[in-house]
Amino acid sequence: MASFALIRTSVLKKSFTPFRQSISRTIATRATSYTLNTGHKIPALGIGTFGDAESQEAIVTQALNKGIRFIDTARVYDVEVQVGKGMKCSGVPREDVYLATKLWCSDYHPEDVERALDDSLRDLDTPYVDLLLMHYPCTFKRGADRFPRDDGGRMIKGETSYLDTWRAMEKLTRSGKVKSIGVSNFSKGEIETLIKDSSTIPAVHQMEVHPYLQQKGFNNWLQDKGIHVVQFSPLGNMNDFYRKTGWSKEVSHMMRVIDQPILKEIAEKHNKSPVQVVLAWGINSGRSVIPKSVIDWQVDENIAADFELEEEDMFRIATLDARARFNDPSLDYEWRLYSDLEGIDGTVRGKTH
Ligand SMILES: NC(=O)c1ccc[n+]([C@@H]2O[C@H](COP(=O)([O-])OP(=O)(O)OC[C@H]3O[C@@H](n4cnc5c(N)ncnc54)[C@H](OP(=O)(O)O)[C@@H]3O)[C@@H](O)[C@H]2O)c1
Repeated sequence: MASFALIRTSVLKKSFTPFRQSISRTIATRATSYTLNTGHKIPALGIGTFGDAESQEAIVTQALNKGIRFIDTARVYDVEVQVGKGMKCSGVPREDVYLATKLWCSDYHPEDVERALDDSLRDLDTPYVDLLLMHYPCTFKRGADRFPRDDGGRMIKGETSYLDTWRAMEKLTRSGKVKSIGVSNFSKGEIETLIKDSSTIPAVHQMEVHPYLQQKGFNNWLQDKGIHVVQFSPLGNMNDFYRKTGWSKEVSHMMRVIDQPILKEIAEKHNKSPVQVVLAWGINSGRSVIPKSVIDWQVDENIAADFELEEEDMFRIATLDARARFNDPSLDYEWRLYSDLEGIDGTVRGKTH
């Protein structure tokens, strides 16, 4: 079990080696990383790439030059080409970057998994990814159509299960094309199935976590299992997507997380911003965060978000938990996602594609 323990290491500014530009971090800003159950290191702070495809090449270049070393992308975001170009353009050596991508649900048939990864590697222009995630546990009909629907508009399910996909992913770790494998948007029961019926414990679970959806019990359980959590939508309902799409529930119209007075007070105390406090809360909880931004000053703000919060701050942020989940496409995907987790009340039917 000891080998599954997550080892947290904080590295101060001086041992961090940016390529072109120096990092504008204060001495109080850290560059935390964690060791996964595969032995590979993952940075605590990365950048997400969902949306704004036309800006991704430039922002990936800039983020790497500013010192970010973790890029999160996915096949279904249709930005892998831009991400690959941005990485090349930055000049940062490939081995210094932690690159994660995700398999999409229409590529889950075991015979499709390696080809799908090869497509991602080709577009990313890299011989390997550091992390390959299964994007959701639901399987769609295999084929080129990523959102295969019947005449009534309902998603057509695939014939294999996420366990079959996982076993195909396990084989890829022996090919050298993938360093670690993990999952995203799984329930506890679905992860238990993987642990019970396969020989690989996921290295990472990428899931929605922010002060409005803290999932304490589930996070503790994942930590006990040695599964590192990467928080998506770490800023909560900042992403406009949640307000606009059909899956948005009433909760996505709540006050923005970062406008909460408690966060403003904590931010003032540390001479930081509420965004930085929200990201620091994730890192101080032992998780990674991947805020998405295509705006230069926001990336600067986000990169300076790895700092130490006090215990009292953590307690105050804990009071903001509202069990408010914004990313719940269960009805559209014909799969009851997060079935044993918090924040699934009031799921609505809606289409994004
Ligand atoms: N596994 C999954 O199913 C899944 C689901 C969702 C997301 N993700 C991953 O997680 C990443 C992040 O999630 P997300 O994009 O949903 O949400 P997010 O990172 O919490 O929020 C993104 C929004 O916050 C804004 N923002 C970022 N930094 C800011 C700052 N310093 N000040 C003010 N506003 C700021 C961005 O603005 P601008 O856009 O204007 O820059 C954007 O509108 C995604 O890009 C993707 O890589 C994964």
